Amino acid sequence: MKVLNDVYVMSNGVKIPKIGFGTWQVPSGDVAYQSVMMALKNGYRHIDTAAAYQNEASVGQAVRDSGIPREEIFVTSKLQSHIKTYEDAKEAFEKTLKELGFDYLDLYLIHAPWPWNEIGKNCDEGNVEAFKAMIEFYKAGKIKAIGVSNFSPKDIDNIIKHLDFVPHANQIAYFVGHNQEETDTYCKEKNILIEAYSPLAIGHALNNPTVVEMAKLYKKTPAQILIRYCIEKGTLPLPKSTHESRIIENTQVDFEIKASDLEILDQIDDDPRKWN
Ligand code: A2P
Repeated sequence: MKVLNDVYVMSNGVKIPKIGFGTWQVPSGDVAYQSVMMALKNGYRHIDTAAAYQNEASVGQAVRDSGIPREEIFVTSKLQSHIKTYEDAKEAFEKTLKELGFDYLDLYLIHAPWPWNEIGKNCDEGNVEAFKAMIEFYKAGKIKAIGVSNFSPKDIDNIIKHLDFVPHANQIAYFVGHNQEETDTYCKEKNILIEAYSPLAIGHALNNPTVVEMAKLYKKTPAQILIRYCIEKGTLPLPKSTHESRIIENTQVDFEIKASDLEILDQIDDDPRKWN
């Protein structure tokens, strides 16, 4: 698939493959190892993990065992959301590198602006401290690009204001029904790449009647419509699956969605906070 060889270029000139393989909720050990192996075998060159997923060791092992040169695979990991001091961030990054078994990382993100068990807490100071440590590793060449995840424009402004550094990427929940217009517009203005996690809405959006109908029209699957939507919107989808047929299906997105159909998809409002 051509799309597997396509890249976005981040604001610092670093190239990042347009589709990444997500590993959230993929259990460490054989499942994570085999999934990443299957993804690499089927042409993915971009793997997304995080310390919080507790599968960095398996992901790193698969990357190292794949036989593909390390520099041909783009790997992202993330600083755990509760780590908000300079020293702890430094220690955590060293641990991530060790778990992965790498001597550098392609992209490192602050996983969230607040600890997951204290969503909304003001951690402005801690985020600046953590990002300061990341800038040091970036300048030392240990990380090729640095960014954030789940950050609002206000959270990013805090980093820019105190460190005079614009993060290269912001990874957010982004899918048909939840396209986070405010953050999307802000990031595009600042040339911050949006990475779209849960591009299938953890499976939820696959059954949306409009998506199902459009998939029939384009002779594609709902998953392919949802993944292509992210690309058409200039974001970088991170689909995940533990099944090889779906891992392959999710890369078969070399088609275009017409502007008028994108508008229809844009209008779907299915915010995950309303699910329960
Ligand atoms: P599975 O691992 O059993 O394939 P998201 O990327 O939005 O978080 O969605 C991931 C979920 O969607 C997982 O439950 C995954 O299940 C499922 N999934 C991934 N790809 C497909 C696909 N092509 N068709 C149907 N379900 C999929």
